Amino acid sequence: MKIPEKILFSKEQIENRIRELVSSIAEDFRDREIVIVGILKGSFIFLADLVRLMYEYNIHPQVDFMILSSYGGSTYPSTMVKIERDLSISVEGKAVLVVDDILDTGRTMQYVKERLRWLEPEIVRTCVLLDKPARRIVDITPDYTGFQIEDEFVVGFGLDYNGFHREKPYIAVIQNPESAD
Ligand code: IMP
Ligand code: MG
Repeated sequence: MKIPEKILFSKEQIENRIRELVSSIAEDFRDREIVIVGILKGSFIFLADLVRLMYEYNIHPQVDFMILSSYGGSTYPSTMVKIERDLSISVEGKAVLVVDDILDTGRTMQYVKERLRWLEPEIVRTCVLLDKPARRIVDITPDYTGFQIEDEFVVGFGLDYNGFHREKPYIAVIQNPESAD
């Protein structure tokens, strides 16, 4: 599968930005019991970098994951978000940081925040590597954002197109994914 791509953010740019994010997160979350909630699959690489840097800032979170389905192989979001895997550790009274690869329509993050409210955490903050505000449907702004991007379909650093490209160490725009093989 060979698709033309344009690199938006290099490995070094992403590394530097993640370090800045962790520095502000560390300041805001200090002395709290923290649970990082990763939204799979897209967040796994970003989250792994975040938590490893947290160690350097003397932050020692628990980590859990949720799997939600909303895309189903297309670049267009479906109207439904469904929980495929829920949290398995308690977040009651704790500080929760929800981590995702990208905030697009906002439906996924909104759904996760509603789900979390039932579990009575002390605070919930959201952290995304990328924010694509042009396509927002739900009124939601991430607390920590790596980079804002235009209305383009991107892959790499955990983000996929049809399950591929997640391993790329950079973020790239792929042209016209719908017509790709
Ligand atoms: P939302 O619910 O529309 O905000 O969608 C969030 C999810 O859509 C993300 O977790 C991604 O999995 C997926 N997504 C949105 N935009 C892109 C993109 O440009 N590239 C790859 N995945 C995307
Ligand atoms: Mg995702």
